[in-house]
Amino acid sequence: MNKLAIILGVLFLVISCKTSPEKPEKTEETIKQDEKMAWWREARFGMFIHWGLYAEPAGEWKGKQIPGISEWIMLRAKIPVAEYEALAKNFNPKQYDAEAWVKLAKMAGMKYIVITSKHHDGFAMFHSKASKYNIYDATPFKRDPIKELAEACKKEGIRLGFYYSQAQDWHEPGGTYAGINNGVSHWDPDLKRDSLMNYINDKALPQVKEILENYGGLDILWWDTPIGMTEEAAQLLQNEADKYPAMLTNNRLYRPWPGDFSTPEQHVPPTGLDYDWEVCMTMNTSWGYKWYDNNWKSTANLIQMLVDIASKGGNLLLNVGPTAEGLIPDSSVVRLKQMGIWMQQNSESIYGTSASPFFKLPWGRCTQKEVDGHTLLYLHVFNWPKDQVLRVPGLKGVIKDIYLLSRPQQKFAWKFEEGDALIHAPSVTFDPINTVIVVKVKGKPEITSNMPSLKDGSILLTADFADIHNPGYGNHAVLKNYGKKSVVRNWVDSRTRLEWMFNVTEPGIYKIEGLIKASKDVNINIQLDDKTVHAEIQSQGEKFQEYSLGEIEITESGNKLIKVSPVRENWNEIELIYLELVKK
Ligand code: GLC
Repeated sequence: MNKLAIILGVLFLVISCKTSPEKPEKTEETIKQDEKMAWWREARFGMFIHWGLYAEPAGEWKGKQIPGISEWIMLRAKIPVAEYEALAKNFNPKQYDAEAWVKLAKMAGMKYIVITSKHHDGFAMFHSKASKYNIYDATPFKRDPIKELAEACKKEGIRLGFYYSQAQDWHEPGGTYAGINNGVSHWDPDLKRDSLMNYINDKALPQVKEILENYGGLDILWWDTPIGMTEEAAQLLQNEADKYPAMLTNNRLYRPWPGDFSTPEQHVPPTGLDYDWEVCMTMNTSWGYKWYDNNWKSTANLIQMLVDIASKGGNLLLNVGPTAEGLIPDSSVVRLKQMGIWMQQNSESIYGTSASPFFKLPWGRCTQKEVDGHTLLYLHVFNWPKDQVLRVPGLKGVIKDIYLLSRPQQKFAWKFEEGDALIHAPSVTFDPINTVIVVKVKGKPEITSNMPSLKDGSILLTADFADIHNPGYGNHAVLKNYGKKSVVRNWVDSRTRLEWMFNVTEPGIYKIEGLIKASKDVNINIQLDDKTVHAEIQSQGEKFQEYSLGEIEITESGNKLIKVSPVRENWNEIELIYLELVKK
């Protein structure tokens, strides 16, 4: 009995160390949902297109640059409806070539496209019978670009989704707008107000029917910003969507409203979520075209982001904002083509993969796939260890082969050491952005977690194990090498926070210390479970210094999440190498 208890205890420890939770039992409903989601989960990578009248002012109104995302210009610059409407008279995107757009998406390795059929400005980019305020009837263009796109997608085998702003419609008396819930009145006094239900019945519902019926079967209906939405209105629209059981919808119809997938916007969630999710992300800052927005993410950044997302089990919907002439900006085209070059050699490590079985890998990410009784672990190496030895923490099992994905004849030697697998890289030229090494393991690999764990009374939470949560818009903190360590740099924005997951086996009171460079005084909040510690960091000059940040009580053992956030009123840039918890 005692022996059995010990065996069970050990077994429990091994199981509880694993980072990926065991999947719940399948039911008829989950099997159906799995079938519905199959193509989307396989795809992993799609293109978002924000295109509308706002491409014409492109972020500038009456000679003034209007801050914020360009598709919000009507609201931000308080443009009266009649004045904004007049933009349509000149909207003539003659250079629009649906096939070229679809081919570009395909070349980048994207498997689906979601385009704005109507954004918050209320202007339909398709030929609508329900409202004359549409690209066919109100512009000299006299074409239906959405129809052309649908045809090109069919031809090229790309799935298609439409974005539809169901609640916000700044052009209509009953449409909602930011601020409506707080009693703010519409900026245009000439726009007589009407009820939401009238707008839903007269415009949103008929238009949704049109986009569902007229374009040859949609794959995704992408709702947005349920500001001022009611459950009743949401249900009416949902009833329409329900007539297309194979079509996916997102979670933005109403709040709360799960839809088929959730939509983290402009950030990548820290760890895998146990539902379907899709990160929507801009390549620069704005969704719609903004001529002076040159805040472009690098190709390396975008490839690593796609991989990061895939390694957590999500999709990336990467945005382009075409111009009023109908062209995707060159800066986007270049990046998409470069991503495509990487995908041509490595897409096997993205499509149809599932989340990493590792908690964190200091040198990169991992995706995986089961093939013929084997598991292929795709190790995405962003930073090659200087000694050419890649340590795969906690990996056991029968390794059959290790090779370079882009050149499978390039093999690697390996050995096991101290519970880790060590891969020896011969001196060959690797991809500086991301080299993918495939580890073929018989059956399923056995992996013990490398989640930091509070042992011997202390725990080191290093920068490379932190999840950096940057705000959607603004200056982003980054992880940089610092000798053999890593450091969080450019933590300028007070909305950026750091999070670590770790495991605690011994509850108690812990001192919090941090190796930090603070050239000015700052305040931070450290949050764990339901407790918050306010720490005042008094600058000790332009050098890294161990700062005492206070004490915190951990009352229960288990997996924990610790959050470090700036106090907005008192924030100056700091750099951080680690946080340490030491038992008192
Ligand atoms: C936001 C914005 C919008 C953009 C969208 C993309 O909610 O309102 O302009 O279309 O996110 O996710």
